Amino acid sequence: MSQHVEALKAKGGSVGFVPTMGALHNGHLSLVEKGLSENSIVVVSIFVNPTQFDNQDDLIKYPRTLDADVSLLKTIGDTTILVYAPTVEDIYNDNITSQAFTFGGLEHEMEGAFRDGHFDGVGTIVKRLFEIVRPGKAYFGEKDFQQLQIIKKMVELYKMPLEVIGCPIYRAEDGLAMSSRNTRLTSEHRAVAPFIYKTLKTAKIKFGTKSAKDVSEWVEKQFKKQPLLELEYFIIADIETLKPIKRKSTKKTYRAFIAVYAGDIRLIDNIALN
Ligand code: PAJ
Repeated sequence: MSQHVEALKAKGGSVGFVPTMGALHNGHLSLVEKGLSENSIVVVSIFVNPTQFDNQDDLIKYPRTLDADVSLLKTIGDTTILVYAPTVEDIYNDNITSQAFTFGGLEHEMEGAFRDGHFDGVGTIVKRLFEIVRPGKAYFGEKDFQQLQIIKKMVELYKMPLEVIGCPIYRAEDGLAMSSRNTRLTSEHRAVAPFIYKTLKTAKIKFGTKSAKDVSEWVEKQFKKQPLLELEYFIIADIETLKPIKRKSTKKTYRAFIAVYAGDIRLIDNIALN
């Protein structure tokens, strides 16, 4: 992969990069399409990274659909997309561990607090993939907004020579944020899951006139009425620090972040508030 990319760059080509864990859907494709519009080729990595899973059952059951993923990518670019699908040994040899990172405190909030070691795993794999692919631009979804901010911080801290580009959340028609884990929802859970985004949209409207505390309490109450979904957290945070809001300030930009269990499946989503 490194040689292929270097040869292309030597001829003046530019390389975009979309790291994924596969089970590709239209959300992933929207990132690849953005990459294709800005680069000569796009490298898509497909690698279910063991070190970022805090839950072994989730790792084992994570959907692996390489052939279907490649076919889907072929529908948007046949010669302009390069798939990189390494094995666990290729990446980790026999030492499947993470490097310990600090990302200016971003790693302690939300997903960092609820998923032990998750961002060390993400940092380890993304840093490794950046070293192999050496892209000029890398594309990450706002679906995982905290991950996007952490990768931007990593690139800044390590002075990595690339630009990180955030891309909007791609949703199903009923509003559910697309996710590889959605395929594992039961039909009952899939039917109620759009409730998550519906609640976020109303929370956004309420945030215009109410305090963050009032909005959070309202959201918690809505989920108590919804027996098929279990709220793990709803947090309104400053997008720069990702710290929970204390006092609303017109000078700051906020997002609401949510994590919900639908049966065994953990879903996350977020929405810009101001
Ligand atoms: P994965 O969940 O496969 O997501 C790959 C990329 O697609 C991430 O940047 C994610 O934010 C983006 N994405 C997923 N669903 C999206 C949606 N509905 N709309 C827009 N973008 C979406 O995130 C990971 O993999 C891994 O942590 C990875 C970065 C590959 C490291 O292993």
